[in-house]
Amino acid sequence: MTTHARLLVAGALAPAVVFWLLAGGGTSTGDSPSPPAVPQAAVAGVVKEAVKNIDAALNKPADKITAKRIRANACIAALAAQDAMLNKEGDATRLATVRDAAIKLAQAAAGKSVHDAEARKQAAVLASFPNTEPAPDAKAAPVDLKDKFALADVMRVFDKANKGGQGIEVQLVILQQQKRPYRPKQMADFEVNAYKTAMIADVSRGQDEKATTKADKEQWRQWSDEMQKLAVELAQTARAKDSKHFKATIKKLSDNCAACHERFK
Ligand code: HEC
Repeated sequence: MTTHARLLVAGALAPAVVFWLLAGGGTSTGDSPSPPAVPQAAVAGVVKEAVKNIDAALNKPADKITAKRIRANACIAALAAQDAMLNKEGDATRLATVRDAAIKLAQAAAGKSVHDAEARKQAAVLASFPNTEPAPDAKAAPVDLKDKFALADVMRVFDKANKGGQGIEVQLVILQQQKRPYRPKQMADFEVNAYKTAMIADVSRGQDEKATTKADKEQWRQWSDEMQKLAVELAQTARAKDSKHFKATIKKLSDNCAACHERFK
């Protein structure tokens, strides 16, 4: 499909597709999915959860995981804010302000130490969401987040809380092992994690430094595309409370994570 045709087909998703093209997606073979459209309510929840984790980290400055925890949580907040901005969910300048604060927060926690005053200043901007005062210099244009966060910080969101993450991987494993049908609440509770996974794939796709040959880069892109598609599907099956389909999708997604890790981690 040509780029032109895809833009027409995408219709309502056009801003997201434009971002995807700006982010360099259009330069490869051109079949990568566009950024996921995460519902506004989920975005607010993602930012809130990140804020809680960041606050906990800031209150433990001596903990050796503090800087990593701040970066991972800042990353998912930036992704959520930018995704909402691109999908025109809410005031664009306000969302850009939140995204920019999350980027600055990660910069204040680069390496092993945290610049406390700067980090607290940016954390306060995140905490004010969804009523954040739009910054006069905030630009509602997409920022390529793959350059603002390292792959390890992006992937860390999946890791256990005591490693600085949000425990998503463990939940995936537990869900995969469950024999009995899922309760509707179980599926509903995981929906937001499926959105996070889709947003993570959207940025980690471009972070392919570990893939060095052309063939490896292509493989990296395929696994990333697959991860995003499966995560979106998982969110949809969770919403539809379709236990059987949910189970099949959880398995496919976990297999996809494992395949890429075996090759590149
Ligand atoms: C396209 C390849 C790829 C896919 C797909 C992928 N990962 Fe990763 N993941 C990596 C690589 C590479 C690393 C090592 C990053 C590093 O240390 O620089 C990693 C690291 C991790 C880590 C360790 C975090 C850390 O400290 O760096 C976790 C946890 C993780 N991935 C979970 C997942 C889960 C869960 C999925 C699927 C939902 C997934 N990953 C999908 C490539 C991938």
